Amino acid sequence: MRAISPLASLALAGTAAASLQIVPGATWTATGTNQHIQAHGAGLIEVDSTYYWVGENHFNGSAFQSINCYSSTDLVEWTFVGELLSLQSSGDLGPDRVVERPKILYNDDTSTYVMWLHIDDSSYAEAKTGVATSSSVCGEYDYLGSFQPLGEQSRDIGLFKDDNGTAYLLSEDRPNGLRIDRLTDDYLNVTYTTHLFPEHYEAPALYKQDGVYFMFGSQLTGWSANDNAYTTATDLNGPWSDWADFAPAGTDTYDSQTSYVIKIGDTVMYMGDRWVSTNLMASTYIWLPLTVDGTNATLSNPTSWILPLDGTWSSGGAETDPEAEASDNILSKGATVISCTGCSGSESVGWIGGPDNGTLEIRNVTSDATTTTTTTLQIRFENGDSTQRYATVTVNGESQVLAFLPSENGNTPATSVLNARLESGDGNVVVFSAYEEGYGPDVDRLLVPEE
Ligand SMILES: *[C@@H]1O[C@H](CO)[C@@H](O)[C@H](O)[C@H]1NC(C)=O
Ligand SMILES: *[C@@H]1O[C@H](CO)[C@@H](O)[C@H](O)[C@H]1NC(C)=O
Ligand SMILES: *[C@@H]1O[C@H](CO)[C@@H](O)[C@H](O)[C@H]1NC(C)=O
Ligand SMILES: *[C@@H]1O[C@H](CO)[C@@H](O)[C@H](O)[C@H]1NC(C)=O
Ligand SMILES: *[C@@H]1O[C@H](CO)[C@@H](O)[C@H](O)[C@H]1NC(C)=O
Ligand SMILES: *[C@@H]1O[C@H](CO)[C@@H](O)[C@H](O)[C@H]1NC(C)=O
Repeated sequence: MRAISPLASLALAGTAAASLQIVPGATWTATGTNQHIQAHGAGLIEVDSTYYWVGENHFNGSAFQSINCYSSTDLVEWTFVGELLSLQSSGDLGPDRVVERPKILYNDDTSTYVMWLHIDDSSYAEAKTGVATSSSVCGEYDYLGSFQPLGEQSRDIGLFKDDNGTAYLLSEDRPNGLRIDRLTDDYLNVTYTTHLFPEHYEAPALYKQDGVYFMFGSQLTGWSANDNAYTTATDLNGPWSDWADFAPAGTDTYDSQTSYVIKIGDTVMYMGDRWVSTNLMASTYIWLPLTVDGTNATLSNPTSWILPLDGTWSSGGAETDPEAEASDNILSKGATVISCTGCSGSESVGWIGGPDNGTLEIRNVTSDATTTTTTTLQIRFENGDSTQRYATVTVNGESQVLAFLPSENGNTPATSVLNARLESGDGNVVVFSAYEEGYGPDVDRLLVPEE
């Protein structure tokens, strides 16, 4: 028998996980689409050590296009699996409809995955929930229909499954407040309101740790971020504590809105949306570590961080930052150094890609990892268009296509994430070239984790 000792396999898992990093607010390109992930207002569910990320597709704006599902075993590299609900010619899932905040629970009694969503018309006047079911977490769902839970208005929703299997709908009821409605045993309907918060919060997420329930939610400011808040109780019926901030006041929850809270290993992860209301497809994902201690929850804001599947998070650590315009690099076929006000060194490399296939070869990219390891690099770039740009990015001979969201934030470069196999030493080469003859982004520099 060839056995890896538990200690050895732990060490291997640690090594593999340590080099992959979550980079909040960046372009996250999905494997299988070459596009920034379209899964906004998300939920996350783990099944057999695979994570499934379910959310709204806003590729073409705010109206319903699809509910997408992506899968990952490391929470950094995501593969598009499919649409759980697709655009229909009419009805709740037809054109110009609002279908938001999908959340999925598994019902152990019926062996069924149950999805709840916010269902509305384009003016948000219907204020209903929808329910869909599937025998497979990331398969096609049967849409069962929509209704107002207990006859009350419902806009943003969440779901929560308690330890004993009883589950609850979290429902923003505009006239009355935020509800925790107990679901029927099959999770397909609601029975009664367990608790009604008279305060007005939306984007609800409920999390439980050591017998304490934490309800997170945002204030009602549309697509604009605000200081989100939380309250705690040891019984869902209450009493609930006063609402308090979990991120520093005035940061607008690090410019994000709550969508989900989940425990991964020993880390509690906050999942939020940084909405770009003028171009919803460019909205990014703000996933951050949340420290939960007793009845206190505090959000940290690392630029990049490591989320081990076992153990506790750590920040991304030291980085080298090779510049695109460095003289050792090779620029060819029209790629050229241009001035860039917000870039480090006030320069970047433009005219990458295009019909001439402008090419930038960044040399001398250093990794201190002792073995060849898939590592998360950050690409700082600018893209002045209102749509994504793309580039073929080849690292040590292995190519992938990356997306680069519009960087409509003044002169500050944006970030796109590159997960690539780096070799030990300073001989790594990162090449940017054309994808389908389109122009790529202007590249400022790379940020490369040292270990
Ligand atoms: C966006 O809209 C175009 C044109 O209607 C359509 O072809 C495309 O499939 C849509 N993309 C997505 C991701 O929904
Ligand atoms: C789970 O616990 C809640 C709160 O005590 C209770 O209302 C509910 O009936 C329990 N569910 C089951 C299936 O025991
Ligand atoms: C949900 O339960 C209510 C109250 O029992 C009932 O009137 C309604 O028909 C149910 N809805 C569905 C979709 O089963
Ligand atoms: C939670 O802990 C942080 C850090 O110690 C502290 O600043 C904050 O006031 C606490 N919040 C609450 C609601 O107790
Ligand atoms: C563009 O240039 C890169 C780097 O030389 C090369 O690998 C790639 O094949 C070229 N692409 C096209 C479409 O010619
Ligand atoms: C490569 O990078 C290392 C570390 O940043 C630096 O010391 C060295 O001078 C660089 N070599 C070249 C040829 O640029």
